[in-house]
Amino acid sequence: MDGEALEAALHEVGRDLADAFPSPLRRPMEALDRKAMDLASQDAELRAALFRFVDVVPACRSLDDLARHLSAFLGDVDDRPPPLQVAMRMADSRPGRQALGAAAAAGVRHMAHRFIVGETPRAALPAIRGLWSRGVATSVDLLGEATVTRREADVYAGRCREALDELARAYAGWPAHAVLEGDSLGPIPRANLSVKVSALTPLLRPDAPELGQHDAAARMRPLLRQARDLSAHLHIDMESLDSREAVLALILDVLGEPEFAEGPSAGLVLQAYLRDSPELLDQVLAWTHASPRAHPLVVRLVKGAYWDHEIVEARQHGWQDPVFTVKADCDRNFELLTRRLLGARPRVRVAVASHNLRSVAHAIAANRLAGGEDRDLEVQVLRGLGDELQDALATRGFRVRTYCPVGDLVAGMAYLVRRLLENTSNESFLHEQARGVPIEELLAAP
Ligand code: FAD
Ligand code: 2OP
Repeated sequence: MDGEALEAALHEVGRDLADAFPSPLRRPMEALDRKAMDLASQDAELRAALFRFVDVVPACRSLDDLARHLSAFLGDVDDRPPPLQVAMRMADSRPGRQALGAAAAAGVRHMAHRFIVGETPRAALPAIRGLWSRGVATSVDLLGEATVTRREADVYAGRCREALDELARAYAGWPAHAVLEGDSLGPIPRANLSVKVSALTPLLRPDAPELGQHDAAARMRPLLRQARDLSAHLHIDMESLDSREAVLALILDVLGEPEFAEGPSAGLVLQAYLRDSPELLDQVLAWTHASPRAHPLVVRLVKGAYWDHEIVEARQHGWQDPVFTVKADCDRNFELLTRRLLGARPRVRVAVASHNLRSVAHAIAANRLAGGEDRDLEVQVLRGLGDELQDALATRGFRVRTYCPVGDLVAGMAYLVRRLLENTSNESFLHEQARGVPIEELLAAP
């Protein structure tokens, strides 16, 4: 592909999408959230204190308890900005702690509700219906991960079954939307559920991947049968590296079983932050060559949500970092994998999942230059982070799917912490965008 032509085309796409943003490009987040994120971005100690606090919120039993935890964590921060000095002073008296606890609880709930669409699939339906009517498809993610008992895993599988039923029933009654329901390979299911393997088994262990794989397979097969019967799509998320071997083997082995040759539509996730992701893609593509399945494998390309975890884990053990440590290397790899995936159609359906305007514009332009139709590329965003990009893409007629977490705050805490970690990182695209970096710089080659 001609590099110069690609750069020119992607700048054009990027500028056009930026023009379609519902509010000015530099305001992707509500002011209140931005302020909290900015404070946390400025100081590593403060960032750590706020994360420790967010983590204990679900376990706190009273406003007083909340305020005491908050002031204890902030007490470890040497350089406290003025609003946090005020918070510390409030914690000195009982009425002050009540007010501080109430404000802190409301703040965490507010932040969580940006990302979570409802506590149950039924409660989430109005939001999902609203998105469909605005030209946006969804993938519902049932919050909950890293289960520790078989009972918890059974409960999670039960919640998945209920969600599939609920979604299929609801979507069946909604009006047709050609862009969201098909591409040149054929129909695309309306109901789409994302699941995490660490929630489907308590036995995921890096040193015994077969154990977790087989235990999770027993809960995944009924879900695949149900998705096939309801014409729904089942997507398996990718988690931290220690579970990758089991997750990948699980997906490829189970989907390869003869009973799933005719369906359902299913997919997996490729994480571009991993240095060995190109080899992983080789493995996945070799599988698609050999697979007799009727449905193309949907590959969601992401950068990866466990970057901080992978770095800490590797350094604790004295291992080489498995992830890129220079953001531009990760972004370049993302673009390389995008082009390889586009070239691997029709064996795969490509879903590019990113809030980075450059990464998304690159995928759209590369698809067009390769002779693809816009409907043969899907863009995916996370609820609460990609809302404006989502609306811009829908306005411009692209198929956009929003990942919609469903569950309560306790189940959602790990997810919330990952979103906060990403958004308080100075290297995050959304952070750059919010700082008002000019569009041409945002679109510049990594
Ligand atoms: P950008 O700001 O361009 O990129 C941020 C990302 O770059 C970080 O998340 C990290 O991956 C990487 N990064 C940050 N700093 C560095 C550095 N110093 N060196 C190298 N790389 C760095 N993630 C999963 O792991 N599994 C999933 O199943 C998954 N599903 C997703 C589904 C959807 C619909 C979306 C939108 C995202 C999903 N993600 C998943 C999350 C995704 O991996 C990213 O974390 C997130 O989207 C941020 O990337 P970005 O392109 O939007 O933003
Ligand atoms: C996560 O749970 C979105 O799958 C990604 O962080």
